[in-house]
Amino acid sequence: MDGRTKKHLITPKLLIKKYGSRCLKSSALRIPEGDKWLEYFVKKVKPDVILEIGTYRGITSAYLSQFCKKVITIDLKNGKLEETDDPILSRHELWADLGIKNIEFHAVKGNYEKKKIINHMHFDMVFIDGAHDKTIRGDYMMTRKCGNVLFHDYREIKDRPDKNQIFRFVNSLARRDIEVQNVFAFWKKREQKA
Ligand SMILES: C[S@@+](CC[C@H](N)C(=O)[O-])C[C@H]1O[C@@H](n2cnc3c(N)ncnc32)[C@H](O)[C@@H]1O
Repeated sequence: MDGRTKKHLITPKLLIKKYGSRCLKSSALRIPEGDKWLEYFVKKVKPDVILEIGTYRGITSAYLSQFCKKVITIDLKNGKLEETDDPILSRHELWADLGIKNIEFHAVKGNYEKKKIINHMHFDMVFIDGAHDKTIRGDYMMTRKCGNVLFHDYREIKDRPDKNQIFRFVNSLARRDIEVQNVFAFWKKREQKA
């Protein structure tokens, strides 16, 4: 399914109807208008291939898959999904149930293996939604080559400075390269002057 030419079919409403509202837990689609802002940024870039760091249940990968030719999504071998006692469907069962055939999933042991495989990948845009700690810098450095980096969970939690790694990291980048909408922050590589 290449969503640039077909109707927009996978929506939070459909996902809730099929799998219950708990399927959106920890997903970028769980916040009001999360889907709309993701669509907004993806339509700006018009990517063929989107890389997602942090798959969890595969909900946002499923959503993104309708706007591009391929989604590549990476999570840890022993990540958050393996810890949850409420898996609903496995990622691959979920994607198959939704009729999606353009998602490629990679499970990695850790950041070193992630970097090694990303170095060999081509992608036009990245959605960073993995570890919400200092890993964010490494995730950005290993993916910035695509020129279009979308961060999730850009917000300041005033009474929990330990939770503000994404907020702090995004703020360390040049402000003129960043567009913020809701909890999404989009970094675009600056055009080189001729
Ligand atoms: C918030 S969830 C992702 C939600 C998903 N992007 C969505 O919107 O449906 C974060 C995921 O990142 C994974 N994760 C944590 N540390 C990671 C790392 N260093 N590299 C890749 N993924 C990581 C966790 O296992 C978890 O599944």
